[in-house]
Amino acid sequence: MKKVVIFASGSGSNAENLIQLHHNKFYTVEAIFCNNEFAGVIERANRLKIPLKLFKRNEWNEVITSIKELNPDLIILAGFLWKIPSDFISSFNRIINIHPSLLPKFGGKGMYGINVHQAVIDNQEKESGITIHLVNEHYDEGEVLFQAAIKIAKGETPESLANKIHELEYQYFPEIILKEIENEK
Ligand code: GAR
Repeated sequence: MKKVVIFASGSGSNAENLIQLHHNKFYTVEAIFCNNEFAGVIERANRLKIPLKLFKRNEWNEVITSIKELNPDLIILAGFLWKIPSDFISSFNRIINIHPSLLPKFGGKGMYGINVHQAVIDNQEKESGITIHLVNEHYDEGEVLFQAAIKIAKGETPESLANKIHELEYQYFPEIILKEIENEK
């Protein structure tokens, strides 16, 4: 069976969705790497019995070593909010990220979670959506694998938009991950 590892920084609802739908069916989730000791994903990992590895900014080398040992087919960023160092990127084949906007719009530094949705509303955009893309050295600029859009409703708030975007993420992220894993040589 194929193997993946997941990186998450926050609630971890995408991580849980990927686990609930596919873990032990199409791939095993070998570990969740987390940079935030207060993240909701920690409770989810414990409940779902997935090894959770908490790490600090100065521990990327240890993270690289530990992932080399796990030897995953795919590395998935599911709401991971730190920039990935270039050492890490050059050590592994395929890293996939999900971003809650239609990149290249509303990407880059500081653009994560609710900040993205606030900026979309402030900018009076007509639509927003999700982007699933490969990770390279440039923040939010790797090859786009998939996008899905929704219309912004009248009176939309960052919170209501976040909920709609999460639904899109739950619908499409697992399916794109499976496609990528099947393509993995
Ligand atoms: C998701 O909406 C994801 O797209 C976003 O963080 C949220 C995490 O939610 N990622 C980024 O903003 C990356 N720049 P979750 O922890 O409930 O899965």
